[in-house]
Amino acid sequence: MSKENMQKNKIKVFPLISKSEIKKKVKDLSQKISQDYKGKELNLILVLKGAFVFGADLIRFLKIPARVYFLRAKSYEKDKSTGKVKIEFSAGKEIEGKNVLILEDILDTSLTLKEIIKFLKKFQPKEIKTCVLLEKKVPKREKIKVDYVGFKIENKFIVGYGIDYDERFRNLPYIGYIKLN
Ligand code: IMP
Ligand code: MG
Repeated sequence: MSKENMQKNKIKVFPLISKSEIKKKVKDLSQKISQDYKGKELNLILVLKGAFVFGADLIRFLKIPARVYFLRAKSYEKDKSTGKVKIEFSAGKEIEGKNVLILEDILDTSLTLKEIIKFLKKFQPKEIKTCVLLEKKVPKREKIKVDYVGFKIENKFIVGYGIDYDERFRNLPYIGYIKLN
């Protein structure tokens, strides 16, 4: 094993939000969304990879039909944002004139969500709304309207429940944080 890998294996995860707290919150969010979209067509856009567990849980509590699309957005290298967001999405034509709800894992600087919204607007959906599981309390964030927020959390580096550090820890059933120097 390389020295870098050995160091990676030593990373300690501090629990922050338990499995049962997450379940309750995701169910609440899903029920709110079900009420708000009653009688409307709901098109969920799940942002990969981080929101895959969140999205998979949320759709199973929905009381209304929904279509699910996947969008890939990448801006982080390990624990740092590169400042650029790469987006891959192949269903542009299908969302024209539709109600779109973006499902994202974490709102940090808001750069990712902003770029995704800008990108999706090109396909002229009827409406774009946003739902994030975690919103970090960061001192300076450009204004962005988030329609549904799960938890507001301290500004720490989060892992678990689909969220990674350098592709690790996505499998944890709870949400925790790691300390990085
Ligand atoms: P933003 O663009 O700064 O708002 O960061 C949002 C994106 O960066 C999310 O989609 C996450 O994938 C990733 N991200 C932000 N903070 C964290 C974190 O604490 N842990 C893991 N990924 C994060
Ligand atoms: Mg993400």
